[in-house]
Amino acid sequence: MRTNAVFFETSTLTIINEDVLTTRAIPDTTIDLIVTSPPYNVDIPYASHHDELSYAAYLEFSEAWLRRCLAFLKDDGRLCLNIPLDKNKGGQQSVGADLTTIARHVGYQYHATIVWNESNISRRTAWGSWMSASAPYVIAPVELIVVLYKKHWKKTSGSRQSDIQRQEFLDWTNGVWSFSGESKKRIGHPAPFPVELPTRCIKLFSFVGDTVLDPFLGSGSTLVAAARNNRRGIGIEIDSGYCELARRRLEHEAAGNGVETELVLDLESPR
Ligand SMILES: C[S@@+](CC[C@H](N)C(=O)[O-])C[C@H]1O[C@@H](n2cnc3c(N)ncnc32)[C@H](O)[C@@H]1O
Repeated sequence: MRTNAVFFETSTLTIINEDVLTTRAIPDTTIDLIVTSPPYNVDIPYASHHDELSYAAYLEFSEAWLRRCLAFLKDDGRLCLNIPLDKNKGGQQSVGADLTTIARHVGYQYHATIVWNESNISRRTAWGSWMSASAPYVIAPVELIVVLYKKHWKKTSGSRQSDIQRQEFLDWTNGVWSFSGESKKRIGHPAPFPVELPTRCIKLFSFVGDTVLDPFLGSGSTLVAAARNNRRGIGIEIDSGYCELARRRLEHEAAGNGVETELVLDLESPR
């Protein structure tokens, strides 16, 4: 790793405390799979990132990080991009469609879109016009996982060893996934995804021993999934407090505590 921004490192897992737009930690064409959920620009109170840009500035930021991440991927590398279908707060926007278009413009190839039915979430903030056709709002309680790749969809690099079970393959190749979202309070981060999300992406789209990157690591969920499934994992996170949270989760895993006993933190606990 060519950087002094390494926050935490084991033989298989690395946390980089830097901005994905400027980091020099990741050599080009070294990553097999990126699994990430970038900021959604919905005014989430992150510790170090301002999550309320103009929509135009948000799309510019998205283009910049997507371009950087494309360079990190191997030619048969893939990106699983967890984003909202649309945005209702502060004006209606077709976020999923817009980011998919930008990704293609930057040079990614499109493969598929998985709809994540986040069963315990309500996105409703207002009805618009109540029981009137005047101006009703339609709000879908789902998110997307857009599956993109760099040059070749067929994966030829890596161990070629898969660890997905028969029933998992049958279930997960159906592009509607239903499982609950993660609790902010339980994890101690304002917008975590459940470990189930990167776990499915990792087992479905990478080989054992592959290198998985999350450029917006947050609380470290992608690295927890990588550790549980014998992949190498690299996370980039701009906020040192969230890097510390991710480190604590990984050390908790390494101590032999796994799925059943996820580390429980609350937002007020000292980092
Ligand atoms: C939606 S959260 C990711 C949550 C993560 N999936 C989890 O399960 O905890 C986005 C994260 O990106 C981080 N972030 C924002 N801008 C960044 C940047 N330019 N470089 C690296 N990290 C950034 C934020 O601090 C935040 O933790």
